[in-house]
Amino acid sequence: MKIMVIQGPNLNMLGVREQNIYGPMKLEQIHAQMKDVASQNNVEIEFFQTNLEGEIVDKVQECYGEVDGIIMNPAAYTHTSIAIRDAISAVNLPTIEVHISNIHRREEFRKENMIAPVCASSVVGFGPFGYHLAMMGMLQILQEIQAMQAQQQAQTAE
Ligand code: DQA
Repeated sequence: MKIMVIQGPNLNMLGVREQNIYGPMKLEQIHAQMKDVASQNNVEIEFFQTNLEGEIVDKVQECYGEVDGIIMNPAAYTHTSIAIRDAISAVNLPTIEVHISNIHRREEFRKENMIAPVCASSVVGFGPFGYHLAMMGMLQILQEIQAMQAQQQAQTAE
């Protein structure tokens, strides 16, 4: 099983940018923790960060047929990107959206969310720990899908 982690614009600046909102942890540290959890659960994991919307669309499309689930923080594109939303719908893979800050209690424009309606779930406002929660959620979703597929196979074999 494989999980793709996609990080949007300015998340490469974690640990530097607005520490009062996003905290002191760097993206590499977050990814190192996720990697540990993945290996403990025998799951492959890949990380991708970009500041460009089209590169997120390309990466989501590349996931089709290659990965089992996507964890994504679309960052500012959350509030604007119909293209990323359409890409997630197109590949139809379980996707969990993460936001480090609580976007619901910030500026009005952050309340608009293009991405959430096409995600299995959203994790919001837990700081970097949200990525760990998203990993737990994704492992649960993937286990449920596997169990369902095994049941379907058993039924068709009857
Ligand atoms: C963010 C919230 C977005 O509104 C913002 O543009 C980001 C980060 C978060 O993780 O809290 O860049 O996605």
